[in-house]
Parts: sequence; C-alpha cells; structure tokens
Amino acid sequence: MKFLIIAIDGPSGVGKSTLSSLLADKLGGLYVDTGAMFRCLAWRWQQLDCPEDDDELRNLGLQTRIKMASNQIWCNSTEVTELIRSEQVSALSSQISKFPVIRDIMKQKQRELVEDVRNSGSFSGAILEGRDIGTVIFPNADIKFFVDADPEIRAQRRFDQLRQKGEEVEFDIILQALKERDAKDRNRSVAPLVPADDAILVDTSKMGEQQVLNTMLQHIEKIK
Ligand code: DC
Repeated sequence: MKFLIIAIDGPSGVGKSTLSSLLADKLGGLYVDTGAMFRCLAWRWQQLDCPEDDDELRNLGLQTRIKMASNQIWCNSTEVTELIRSEQVSALSSQISKFPVIRDIMKQKQRELVEDVRNSGSFSGAILEGRDIGTVIFPNADIKFFVDADPEIRAQRRFDQLRQKGEEVEFDIILQALKERDAKDRNRSVAPLVPADDAILVDTSKMGEQQVLNTMLQHIEKIK
C-alpha cells in the first residue's frame, strides 16, 4: 500500500489539529502537529530571553528534543502539553518562526520524522499540519489542503476553548492577537502562510466538523 503524505495548512484556530488527528485515526496515519514543534522552541526561547543571534538560535533549534506521543508533548525532559498553549507562547512561536535558521532546522526535523515513520512500516502515512507543509516541507505531498475560516469565527472558537479551561479572557483581545499572528504568518519573507497552487481550499466558517472531515476524506479516497 502506498505511504500517503497529507499536508494540511491554514491559519490558527481553524480546526486543523482536530481535523488532522481525526483523519490520522481514520486512516491509520501518524499525526504531526508542526505548530507544537514551533511552540516548544518558543517556550525554550522565552527562558533564554529570546536571543535573535543566528548561532544562539541554531543551538536552541538543535538542542531542543521534541517528542509527541499519547497526546502528550515533551520538550527535552519537561512535559509541556499545556504550557505551550498559552497566549504568550502563541505570540512567541509566531515570532521565532520567522528566522530562516529555525525554519531550516524544523524542515529537516519534520522530513526526518516522516522518513523514520515511512521506514518503520507501522503507519499508512503521515498527516502534517502547519503553515508551509504543502509549499516548503513536502511540495510533493500526495494531497494538500488549505483550511481557512473567518477571523471572528476562529477567535470565537479560541475564546470558547480558553473559557472552558477556566481562563479569564476577553474576546476582543483574542481577536486582536489572532489577527496580529495571522499578519505575521502571512507576511513573513520565509515560508509565509499561503495556499500551495495545487492545494484544495476548504472554508470551515459555515461547516460543521463532520462535514469538513467527510469532504476531506472524499478527496483522499480519490488519490488512494
Ligand atoms: O499551529 P499553531 O498555532 O500551533 O502554530 C504556532 C505558530 O507556529 C504559528 O503562529 C506560526 C508557527 N508555525 C509555522 O511558522 N510553521 C508551521 N509549519 C507551523 C507553525
């Protein structure tokens, strides 16, 4: 059976993580949350007072071991699953992701991860979600989706998630932060967030989760 590489790109709060993990379960593929990898780097970057020097960034990138297993994320020897989801780490992950040296290291790590999984023979494929999977990391992916939704709807989803966790947040502040992060991700000079020419566009603004999932599965069926 062919090992499928599925690229899912799109802005934050669009539901990529949920969709990717549901697809991975359904297809027996490995789910790779590349945003979590940038978040781990941002979390450590903050502890180092956010240096911008290339050598320091390279050391940070190379010395950060990221492990994702059983719904937990480990950064070196610390479990960071929740720690990396704060608004502060969100903003820093968008900042650190603009450095070419960091993007190069992440590209290599993400490709190696998929190669290891392919060689292990234990998964039917890999579902990677992020910002540049279809454009930079796997330009030859078997299928590419670009998932999008209106900023207000994405901010509302994020607001609901944070409130559910008991965090005191204001909708306007969440919306503003999301718009700023969008602008940074879309306008940076290296690997900006843009749909690949051959990506299938999915607007989730007015679609339920199951409807989106079914649409994606129909497209995947065609290339299997
Ligand atoms: O998907 P996320 O919100 O967890 O990603 C956090 C940040 O990491 C996002 O603002 C931009 C960056 N990122 C990136 O530049 N490239 C990726 N492939 C994934 C995330």
